[in-house]
Amino acid sequence: MTAPTTTPQDTFEAARLRSEELEKKVLDHPDQFRVLTGDRPTGRLHVGHLFGTLQNRVRLQRLGVASFIVIADYQVLTDREACEGIAKNVRELTLDYLAAGLDPHCAHTFIFPHSHVPELNQLLVVFLTLVTNAELDRNPTVKEEIQATGAKQINAGMYTYPVHQAADILFCKANLVPVGKDQLPHLEMTRTIARRFNARYGPVFPEPQALLSAAPQIKGLDGSLKMSKSRNNAIALSASEDETAALIRSATTDGNRIITYEPETRPEVANLLLLASLASGEAPESIAARIGDGGAGMLKRILTEALNEHLRPMRQRRKLLEQNPDHIRNVLMSGIGHAREMAEKTLCEVRKIMDMEL
Ligand code: TRP
Repeated sequence: MTAPTTTPQDTFEAARLRSEELEKKVLDHPDQFRVLTGDRPTGRLHVGHLFGTLQNRVRLQRLGVASFIVIADYQVLTDREACEGIAKNVRELTLDYLAAGLDPHCAHTFIFPHSHVPELNQLLVVFLTLVTNAELDRNPTVKEEIQATGAKQINAGMYTYPVHQAADILFCKANLVPVGKDQLPHLEMTRTIARRFNARYGPVFPEPQALLSAAPQIKGLDGSLKMSKSRNNAIALSASEDETAALIRSATTDGNRIITYEPETRPEVANLLLLASLASGEAPESIAARIGDGGAGMLKRILTEALNEHLRPMRQRRKLLEQNPDHIRNVLMSGIGHAREMAEKTLCEVRKIMDMEL
């Protein structure tokens, strides 16, 4: 008899089921959770980010879950040599966060770039000794990213950033990490590192769990698999209403005039319906039925209106915040202060248990 083999699909299914269970626990006991999640500062966020992750973060914040949001500026250096514009991108990202509703004033949300938290980066040195080269080599997300760069020379930061990510998560002992599917291998590595550290030196770290967003992945306006700025198929949250209309007008559809919601056979039309649904709260099937033989033109008009209306308050908030760079700086400085306090405490504990205290 052959042993059953686990496929990546099985592991994803398992992660999804665990995530659903977790979701229930968070609703019942928000005070037992600490969230850490974040992004690389590579440009402005788009509606894919909003429906995929940002709204979920705001929801957790409203439930009262303490939330650390890391701006992974060191991670930007893994696939490029240029570092111009990083500070600007950090500010733009912070503006998008605040505009979307993350609120450092509510006293349990902290936004910080990890380059400014030296104690967090010291944990990385210890964590690097807890994984093998072979493990780093096997990470499927890193492999894909290496392929995407097309470069022959890959720097060691690319192979080791999942370990850095473990330090991002564990410095504050976060136990809940809301992420997309592509981040699951990194979270597995974080758990491995926590487990090995605890077994080798003593109990310090929790084994954090992934909270997969229930929102489906938003495709690009060209119908390609993922909305992303680099593929030029995204609607930035900060785009104007006219820019939004023009982008939607240029979106790919198909030749069938009658609008129906069939994600398998009509992915482009289904994606536009899904976006209109997420923006308006109406079911995609119902929007499709309303349009009927109104064609792609009508679908695009409806989507433009729904999306612009949904984004209007965020865009207004962003405009106001843009005029106050001091406020953005203060938000980051305060986030850095809190993160450093946490990281220092954890690093002290780590030194003590590793017999490195003088
Ligand atoms: N790797 C993540 C991305 O590319 C960003 C990130 C860095 C992150 N550190 C993290 C996400 C910790 C979750 C938790 O989007």
